[in-house]
Amino acid sequence: MDNVLLRFEGVHKTFRLGHFFSRNKIHAVWDANFKIENDPIVFTLVGESGSGKTTIANLLLRTIKPTKGTIWFMGKNIENYPKSEFIKQIQPVFQDPFETFNPLKKLETYFQIMLKKMINSKNKVKGLSLFEKSLNAVGLTIEDIKGRYPHELSGGQLQRLSIARSLLVNPKILVADEPVSMLDVSLRISILNLFRKLRDEKLLHVFYITHDLATAYYISDYIAVILKGNIVEAGPAEKLLMTPLHPYTQLLKESVPDLLDKEKKTYKLVNRSVESPREYSEQLCKFILRCPQKKDICDKKAPPNFTVDNTVVRCWLYQKGGV
Ligand SMILES: Nc1ncnc2c1ncn2[C@@H]1O[C@H](COP(=O)(O)OP(=O)(O)O)[C@@H](O)[C@H]1O
Ligand code: SF4
Ligand SMILES: [Mg+2]
Repeated sequence: MDNVLLRFEGVHKTFRLGHFFSRNKIHAVWDANFKIENDPIVFTLVGESGSGKTTIANLLLRTIKPTKGTIWFMGKNIENYPKSEFIKQIQPVFQDPFETFNPLKKLETYFQIMLKKMINSKNKVKGLSLFEKSLNAVGLTIEDIKGRYPHELSGGQLQRLSIARSLLVNPKILVADEPVSMLDVSLRISILNLFRKLRDEKLLHVFYITHDLATAYYISDYIAVILKGNIVEAGPAEKLLMTPLHPYTQLLKESVPDLLDKEKKTYKLVNRSVESPREYSEQLCKFILRCPQKKDICDKKAPPNFTVDNTVVRCWLYQKGGV
């Protein structure tokens, strides 16, 4: 039986720049292919700013449609799910918890409205028990929020609450796009630990998006590295970071010498590219201008994906039989 929960198959997203008939386009995501199996994992998409991470999150949450390709969820094209059913399966966690909640509404009022909307339950007792379960799963109690407004909670508590909100519908996947970047460094680890706890206790898949290689290493089971819209390498986290295959992943690792020190700082991937987004070319490897291992073929054709053990790498160096 197919053990695949989610699959991106040849997914492209192109944005037109300027007016409707403009020919200027940005290939924000180019031929994304990856899958997540049924066993709960933290799957991390890591990349520089502008590399296409949020576009992938939006495609996954169905707020935008692929220009080409298909996203499969439990064997069905996500576009074929009724919206009401789909949002119960894949839930977002937003970057800024202060924006998730209405500052003028008491938190319990907000949750009462959410419960009605999300669960469509008129049964108050059932609603309350769900609410309590979700709060407990993120380490909060009703007492923590009773009578309070959003600004009366810390950023960390509020992000927990925002995760509790996503849990109300008992989803299969949480899509967390830079969920700790607005939080104090001291609070970040506790939220990341919470994701791992939810994976283990609630059997949730966490689709974690970050530009911070250290947090990626800290919580991930599986990592996909994205560069200018191309997923250049994807594989089990430990293997990908300890023995990276793609020259770009190798460069990232070199720029983070003490990655193994999990307690240490954060390492942000800065956008060092010299090309402007308009020069994005679908024709050739996205790392060609910086690659120290470039071969003749790299100037002629874009590399396809090659599979090396259980890692997928988009680089000519891994062509079977050599280059
Ligand atoms: N709605 C849009 N219209 C035009 N360009 C967009 C739009 N959304 C994103 N982009 C462009 O697509 C590229 C990828 O953006 P994004 O997915 O937000 O990257 P990231 O989240 O990795 O920073 C960027 O060059 C960005 O400017
Ligand atoms: S395909 Fe060529 S240019 Fe691109 S990373 Fe591999 S060796 Fe370097
Ligand atoms: Mg983003």
